[in-house]
Amino acid sequence: MQKNKSLILGITGGIAAYKVAELVRLCIKADIDVQVVMTESATQFITPMTMQALSGKPVFVGMWDSTIDNGMPHIELSREADAILIAPASAEFIAKLLHGRADDLLSTLCLARNCPLLVAPAMNKQMWENPATQRNFAQLKADRIAVFGPGNGEQACGETGDGRMLEATELLAHIKAHFTPKIFANKKILITAGATIEMIDPVRAITNLSSGKMGYALAQAAADMGATVTLVSGATQLPAPFNVNMHHASDAASMHRIVMENVSDQDIFIGVAAVADYSPNEVANQKIKKHEGSLTLHLKRNQDILATVANLPNPPFCVGFAAESERVIEYASQKRIEKKLPLIVANEVNSAIGRDENQVTLIDKNGNHALARNDKYKIAKAIMQHIQQML
Ligand code: CTP
Repeated sequence: MQKNKSLILGITGGIAAYKVAELVRLCIKADIDVQVVMTESATQFITPMTMQALSGKPVFVGMWDSTIDNGMPHIELSREADAILIAPASAEFIAKLLHGRADDLLSTLCLARNCPLLVAPAMNKQMWENPATQRNFAQLKADRIAVFGPGNGEQACGETGDGRMLEATELLAHIKAHFTPKIFANKKILITAGATIEMIDPVRAITNLSSGKMGYALAQAAADMGATVTLVSGATQLPAPFNVNMHHASDAASMHRIVMENVSDQDIFIGVAAVADYSPNEVANQKIKKHEGSLTLHLKRNQDILATVANLPNPPFCVGFAAESERVIEYASQKRIEKKLPLIVANEVNSAIGRDENQVTLIDKNGNHALARNDKYKIAKAIMQHIQQML
């Protein structure tokens, strides 16, 4: 089993400190161990007790902690960490970092580190726009310190603009990406996700229950692994994955068109979208009025996007998904052969649709590989690793 990643979370004095309580919870859920270190001023905004309760570990604030065996927390703590994240990183702390100053435990830790340093700035928009801060921001990049954010929006002081710390979920996405080996660097991956909506008239449509979660998780995992990802998304309620080129497709025909416009230079194509197999022969211009008796809708077959791509003269490596309600492996295996796919991912509809977790079986020419039930991001990573091995 892979060892959990270990993060030192350095909290400096800023009102955004309240957001890192949630970040610690999310990290632990994502199997990232967190050791919290706070500056004295951070303790004015959130208590060490809160952070200890959430991280499950004693929090360090001062330089002279006798509980550390060798009496050198600034060395010992960073040697055990895979990265240090400063969140929130105040303007003052960033300035201090860049001058190599070490007058408290957190700044000393940063100076003595032998692991990557990540910072999530948080400050008032005037402070952020100040030329001194902007100079420091440029210097952070030159010193190869990763900067997450800042975001734009309403600030605690009542002003609106750049300088807000990213939200906990956004920070977690950055941290996960940072910890993921870039096994798909220089690869281009095109993914479809979500449900298509086939209009019947201006207010009615044929669609399905796909949430898009599996396709979005794959797009995020592929991007975290260093790929250039293009996501063609049908209907979903999901926020766009980060670091991914997004296209929106309303129906099967537009999804087909956007895929064909983007497929020529792709290394991998993954069809996760639940594309409608049929759409109305014609879309009524006006709302259809009810009448006595039944109504007959005439439907035409839509093009199979995945099969079209897989049958191109020089196709990318094509991966399909098969959501089945019965005879899952049998039907999925048939689809793999019929559509000429090197790999298909089979799942049972009830255990997959709309859920955060999934249980899938990967089917390729060497047989079936069942993956343990897991959250969709972890399943996505396992699928991408399997693709990498096949490539
Ligand atoms: N797919 C596609 N274009 C379509 C239909 C499906 O690209 N018009 C892709 C899906 O993204 C998925 C795979 O094909 O990767 C699903 O295979 P398919 O046999 O089309 O599944 P269903 O539509 O569920 O087929 P059936 O209704 O016959 O079970």
